[in-house]
Amino acid sequence: MTHPAKTANPAQSAFRAQLLTFNGDPSRSPNAALFNEDGLLIVEDGHVVAAGAYAALASQLAPSTAVQDMRDKLIVPGFIDTHIHYPQTDMIASPAPGLLPWLDTYTFPTERRFTDEAYARDTASFFLEELLSCGTTTALVYCTVHKESADALFAESEARNLRMVAGKVLMDRNCPEFLRDTAQSGYDDSAELIGRWHNRGRQMYALTPRFAPTSSEAQLEACGVLAGKHADVFIQSHVAENTDEVKWVSSLFPGHRSYLDVYDHYGLLRRRAVYGHCIHFDEQDRQRMAQTGTVASHCPTSNLFLGSGLFDFDKADEAGMPVALATDVGGGTSFSMLQTMNEAHKVARLTGHHLTATRMFYLATAGAAEALDLADKVGTLKPKSEADFVVLDPQATPLLARRTARTESLEELLFAFALLGDDRAVYETYAAGKRVHRRDAVRQHAPRVARVAA
Ligand code: GUN
Ligand code: ZN
Repeated sequence: MTHPAKTANPAQSAFRAQLLTFNGDPSRSPNAALFNEDGLLIVEDGHVVAAGAYAALASQLAPSTAVQDMRDKLIVPGFIDTHIHYPQTDMIASPAPGLLPWLDTYTFPTERRFTDEAYARDTASFFLEELLSCGTTTALVYCTVHKESADALFAESEARNLRMVAGKVLMDRNCPEFLRDTAQSGYDDSAELIGRWHNRGRQMYALTPRFAPTSSEAQLEACGVLAGKHADVFIQSHVAENTDEVKWVSSLFPGHRSYLDVYDHYGLLRRRAVYGHCIHFDEQDRQRMAQTGTVASHCPTSNLFLGSGLFDFDKADEAGMPVALATDVGGGTSFSMLQTMNEAHKVARLTGHHLTATRMFYLATAGAAEALDLADKVGTLKPKSEADFVVLDPQATPLLARRTARTESLEELLFAFALLGDDRAVYETYAAGKRVHRRDAVRQHAPRVARVAA
């Protein structure tokens, strides 16, 4: 009888490259990074069959499988961006003196446009192409208050077979009238979207109260009820990003110990709940995040751009608070998780913490997947996981080539990618085993023609 692994299989593909994946947090266990200098990744039907040393795995290849030789490249699991706003794509890099004026001046007027379904589809398509060009294969995405904006994002994601988590924003006060839902309509629309999209193929839903100031108590309560009905649905919001925002919340919700306590009160802290920023926290807040398994999504490019503050990695680690990385575009200034690592490293330096590149690659892949309860699906090259991965090019630019020719350890190589890399370093991106981006190919979705306001 023929060994099953040797049967000709046209659905099988294989990549000989340097491979990196993780079986834990490298800041806690020294052997958590699994690196193969001469590795082989075998993929079939959208899933990983095997990943490891070429010498050990080559015999498992089906005879008809052509191995793609990428020995000068590094394959890592697809990046996971745990907090990003797709409707803000067209307003990235808009100047404002801090979060609240930035929301009023740019964000809300831009989000108004998402009543237009064609505009929403076009933006969603461009947004996903941009993520893929940066090697990001999974993201937790904020849509606008309009349920059609979530339909647009999910439809574009489904068409590309990406694993995306997204939700319609809930927002019934303290924002322009044209962007408001109500506690009831927000509940109904979210329930309808969960029914339509949650766990349909690779799509997953996130209940998305924008942040406490823009939701009434009735709306947060309704959100908590929906969360209780759907234990595996995600929850995403913002917390403790900016000192003016923190003061505003304490005046809007006077009975609460802290900003985080408002969400706690409504049952919105739990596994699969993800809060952007978590900067102006105290010890009790961090402990509560850790106790409930709630994830802090650290958004360094946004925090520096809006002057929000410095996320404290030492204190997060002391409390055992789960942490992942995110861009927070359009408050964030780059779609690239490599650029996000660059800024995360510098933010950590400013708080006296040395954040290694090895840990940052973990946080952007397996660490995020663990924190989001998706570890069996993405963020890894483990057999049976979904074959989402990125091919990084150490020679992407003359400077990267020069620097990586001289790196003497895995940490130095990853550090060069994190500090010098961006979308240029992403040679190819694969989702469910299919190539969805190639750096040198013409982009499927051309950028819209720029217009300058008169
Ligand atoms: N807080 C409430 N809404 C937003 C947003 O869109 N971006 C950021 N960075 N913070 C917020
Ligand atoms: Zn945000």
